[in-house]
Amino acid sequence: MRAHDVKEILIDKETIARRVDELVDQIAKKDTKDLIVIGILKGSFMFLADLMRSFHRHNIHPRIDFLTLSSYGSETSSSGRVEIIHDIREEIIGANVLLVDDILDTGRTLAFTKKLLLERGAQSIRSCVLLDKKAHRAIEFEANYAGFSIEDHFVVGYGLDYNNLYRELPHIAKVNFL
Ligand code: IMP
Ligand code: MG
Repeated sequence: MRAHDVKEILIDKETIARRVDELVDQIAKKDTKDLIVIGILKGSFMFLADLMRSFHRHNIHPRIDFLTLSSYGSETSSSGRVEIIHDIREEIIGANVLLVDDILDTGRTLAFTKKLLLERGAQSIRSCVLLDKKAHRAIEFEANYAGFSIEDHFVVGYGLDYNNLYRELPHIAKVNFL
Protein backbone atom coordinates (compact mmCIF):
# COMPACT_ATOMS: atom_id res chain seq x y z
CA MET A 1 0.00 0.00 0.00
CA ARG A 2 1.31 3.45 -0.90
CA ALA A 3 1.60 6.19 1.75
CA HIS A 4 -1.72 8.04 1.78
CA ASP A 5 -4.35 9.80 3.89
CA VAL A 6 -8.15 9.85 3.78
CA LYS A 7 -8.78 13.13 5.60
CA GLU A 8 -10.45 14.99 2.75
CA ILE A 9 -14.22 14.52 2.78
CA LEU A 10 -15.76 14.61 -0.68
CA ILE A 11 -19.41 13.85 0.21
CA ASP A 12 -20.65 14.07 3.80
CA LYS A 13 -23.11 11.67 5.37
CA GLU A 14 -26.07 14.08 5.46
CA THR A 15 -25.72 14.70 1.73
CA ILE A 16 -25.58 10.95 1.09
CA ALA A 17 -28.70 10.35 3.21
CA ARG A 18 -30.73 12.97 1.31
CA ARG A 19 -29.63 11.56 -2.04
CA VAL A 20 -30.49 7.97 -1.04
CA ASP A 21 -34.10 9.04 -0.39
CA GLU A 22 -34.26 10.88 -3.72
CA LEU A 23 -32.99 7.81 -5.57
CA VAL A 24 -35.59 5.58 -3.95
CA ASP A 25 -38.32 8.12 -4.79
CA GLN A 26 -37.27 7.75 -8.44
CA ILE A 27 -36.99 3.95 -8.30
CA ALA A 28 -40.45 3.70 -6.74
CA LYS A 29 -42.05 5.50 -9.69
CA LYS A 30 -41.40 2.54 -12.03
CA ASP A 31 -42.56 -1.07 -11.86
CA THR A 32 -41.73 -2.47 -8.43
CA LYS A 33 -43.69 -5.72 -8.80
CA ASP A 34 -41.61 -8.82 -7.98
CA LEU A 35 -38.69 -6.51 -7.23
CA ILE A 36 -35.43 -8.08 -6.16
CA VAL A 37 -32.55 -5.91 -5.02
CA ILE A 38 -29.19 -7.50 -5.78
CA GLY A 39 -26.18 -5.96 -4.09
CA ILE A 40 -22.72 -6.44 -5.54
CA LEU A 41 -20.38 -7.18 -2.66
CA LYS A 42 -18.50 -6.06 -0.88
CA GLY A 43 -18.70 -2.41 -1.86
CA SER A 44 -22.50 -2.01 -1.93
CA PHE A 45 -23.33 -3.21 1.57
CA MET A 46 -23.79 0.17 3.27
CA PHE A 47 -25.52 1.87 0.35
CA LEU A 48 -27.82 -1.11 -0.08
CA ALA A 49 -28.77 -1.11 3.60
CA ASP A 50 -29.75 2.56 3.41
CA LEU A 51 -31.67 2.05 0.15
CA MET A 52 -33.60 -0.82 1.72
CA ARG A 53 -34.58 1.27 4.75
CA SER A 54 -35.71 4.01 2.40
CA PHE A 55 -38.04 1.63 0.50
CA HIS A 56 -40.06 1.43 3.68
CA ARG A 57 -41.35 5.00 3.10
CA HIS A 58 -43.02 3.78 -0.10
CA ASN A 59 -44.38 0.59 1.43
CA ILE A 60 -42.36 -1.45 -1.07
CA HIS A 61 -41.12 -4.88 0.01
CA PRO A 62 -38.29 -6.06 -2.25
CA ARG A 63 -36.55 -9.41 -1.98
CA ILE A 64 -32.83 -9.11 -1.52
CA ASP A 65 -29.76 -11.10 -2.51
CA PHE A 66 -26.04 -10.58 -2.95
CA LEU A 67 -23.51 -11.36 -5.63
CA THR A 68 -19.86 -11.27 -4.66
CA LEU A 69 -17.67 -10.25 -7.56
CA SER A 70 -14.08 -9.32 -7.94
CA SER A 71 -12.77 -7.01 -10.63
CA TYR A 72 -10.03 -5.21 -8.80
CA GLY A 73 -6.63 -6.45 -7.75
CA SER A 74 -5.49 -5.09 -4.42
CA GLU A 75 -4.54 -1.66 -5.72
CA THR A 76 -6.47 1.13 -7.39
CA SER A 77 -6.82 -0.05 -10.97
CA SER A 78 -9.14 -2.63 -12.47
CA SER A 79 -7.83 -6.05 -13.47
CA GLY A 80 -10.20 -6.03 -16.45
CA ARG A 81 -11.69 -9.42 -15.58
CA VAL A 82 -14.85 -9.94 -13.55
CA GLU A 83 -15.03 -13.11 -11.48
CA ILE A 84 -17.98 -14.57 -9.53
CA ILE A 85 -16.81 -15.34 -6.02
CA HIS A 86 -20.25 -16.08 -4.58
CA ASP A 87 -23.46 -16.36 -6.59
CA ILE A 88 -27.07 -15.34 -5.79
CA ARG A 89 -29.50 -17.93 -4.41
CA GLU A 90 -32.88 -16.31 -5.16
CA GLU A 91 -34.96 -17.21 -8.24
CA ILE A 92 -34.82 -14.35 -10.73
CA ILE A 93 -36.78 -15.68 -13.72
CA GLY A 94 -39.46 -13.06 -14.45
CA ALA A 95 -38.27 -10.76 -11.68
CA ASN A 96 -37.59 -7.04 -11.88
CA VAL A 97 -34.01 -6.70 -10.72
CA LEU A 98 -32.42 -3.63 -9.18
CA LEU A 99 -28.65 -4.06 -9.31
CA VAL A 100 -26.84 -2.02 -6.68
CA ASP A 101 -23.16 -1.17 -6.69
CA ASP A 102 -21.03 1.37 -4.89
CA ILE A 103 -19.42 2.93 -7.94
CA LEU A 104 -19.58 2.76 -11.72
CA ASP A 105 -16.01 3.07 -12.93
CA THR A 106 -14.84 1.21 -16.06
CA GLY A 107 -18.38 -0.21 -16.42
CA ARG A 108 -17.17 -3.82 -16.63
CA THR A 109 -18.76 -5.05 -13.41
CA LEU A 110 -22.28 -3.81 -14.16
CA ALA A 111 -22.18 -4.69 -17.85
CA PHE A 112 -21.08 -8.23 -16.97
CA THR A 113 -23.74 -8.62 -14.28
CA LYS A 114 -26.59 -7.20 -16.35
CA LYS A 115 -25.83 -9.57 -19.24
CA LEU A 116 -25.56 -12.54 -16.87
CA LEU A 117 -28.92 -11.89 -15.18
CA LEU A 118 -30.75 -11.22 -18.45
CA GLU A 119 -29.42 -14.52 -19.80
CA ARG A 120 -30.79 -16.18 -16.69
CA GLY A 121 -34.28 -14.89 -17.43
CA ALA A 122 -34.79 -11.71 -15.40
CA GLN A 123 -37.75 -9.67 -16.69
CA SER A 124 -35.96 -6.33 -16.37
CA ILE A 125 -32.71 -5.03 -14.96
CA ARG A 126 -32.20 -1.55 -13.60
CA SER A 127 -28.94 -0.42 -12.05
CA CYS A 128 -28.31 1.96 -9.19
CA VAL A 129 -24.91 3.24 -8.10
CA LEU A 130 -23.93 5.72 -5.44
CA LEU A 131 -21.06 7.15 -7.48
CA ASP A 132 -20.42 7.53 -11.19
CA LYS A 133 -16.84 8.10 -12.40
CA LYS A 134 -17.71 8.88 -16.01
CA ALA A 135 -14.16 9.77 -17.08
CA HIS A 136 -12.93 6.25 -16.45
CA ARG A 137 -15.32 4.20 -18.59
CA ALA A 138 -13.71 1.35 -20.60
CA ILE A 139 -16.98 0.08 -22.02
CA GLU A 140 -20.22 1.92 -22.61
CA PHE A 141 -22.59 1.64 -19.67
CA GLU A 142 -25.04 4.06 -18.08
CA ALA A 143 -26.66 3.46 -14.72
CA ASN A 144 -30.41 4.03 -14.48
CA TYR A 145 -29.89 5.76 -11.14
CA ALA A 146 -26.68 7.42 -9.97
CA GLY A 147 -26.22 9.32 -6.73
CA PHE A 148 -23.26 11.55 -7.55
CA SER A 149 -20.96 12.09 -10.51
CA ILE A 150 -17.35 12.37 -9.38
CA GLU A 151 -14.04 13.23 -11.01
CA ASP A 152 -11.46 10.57 -11.72
CA HIS A 153 -9.91 10.23 -8.26
CA PHE A 154 -9.81 7.24 -5.96
CA VAL A 155 -12.33 7.44 -3.11
CA VAL A 156 -13.16 5.38 -0.02
CA GLY A 157 -15.83 5.12 2.66
CA TYR A 158 -19.52 4.21 2.83
CA GLY A 159 -18.60 0.70 1.64
CA LEU A 160 -15.78 1.62 -0.74
CA ASP A 161 -12.28 0.45 0.09
CA TYR A 162 -8.62 0.86 -0.51
CA ASN A 163 -7.03 -2.57 0.09
CA ASN A 164 -10.21 -3.58 1.94
CA LEU A 165 -9.80 -0.69 4.40
CA TYR A 166 -11.97 2.38 5.18
CA ARG A 167 -15.30 0.76 4.27
CA GLU A 168 -16.61 1.87 7.70
CA LEU A 169 -16.37 5.63 7.04
CA PRO A 170 -19.89 7.16 7.09
CA HIS A 171 -18.88 9.59 4.31
CA ILE A 172 -16.98 9.47 1.00
CA ALA A 173 -13.37 10.58 1.32
CA LYS A 174 -10.64 11.15 -1.24
CA VAL A 175 -7.51 9.03 -1.00
CA ASN A 176 -4.61 11.46 -1.21
CA PHE A 177 -1.34 9.74 -2.06
CA LEU A 178 1.60 11.42 -0.32
P1 IMP B 1 -15.87 -1.21 -12.72
O1 IMP B 1 -16.11 -2.63 -13.05
O2 IMP B 1 -14.52 -0.73 -13.19
O3 IMP B 1 -16.99 -0.27 -13.09
O4 IMP B 1 -15.60 -1.10 -11.18
C1 IMP B 1 -16.49 -1.25 -10.20
C2 IMP B 1 -15.76 -1.61 -8.94
O5 IMP B 1 -14.44 -1.05 -8.86
C3 IMP B 1 -16.49 -1.03 -7.78
O6 IMP B 1 -17.51 -1.89 -7.33
C4 IMP B 1 -15.40 -0.82 -6.77
O7 IMP B 1 -15.25 -2.00 -5.98
C5 IMP B 1 -14.13 -0.60 -7.56
N1 IMP B 1 -13.76 0.84 -7.62
C6 IMP B 1 -13.74 1.64 -8.69
N2 IMP B 1 -13.36 2.89 -8.38
C7 IMP B 1 -13.14 2.89 -7.04
C8 IMP B 1 -12.75 3.92 -6.10
O8 IMP B 1 -12.54 5.11 -6.40
N3 IMP B 1 -12.64 3.50 -4.80
C9 IMP B 1 -12.88 2.22 -4.40
N4 IMP B 1 -13.26 1.25 -5.24
C10 IMP B 1 -13.40 1.59 -6.56
MG1 MG C 1 -13.66 -2.65 -4.17
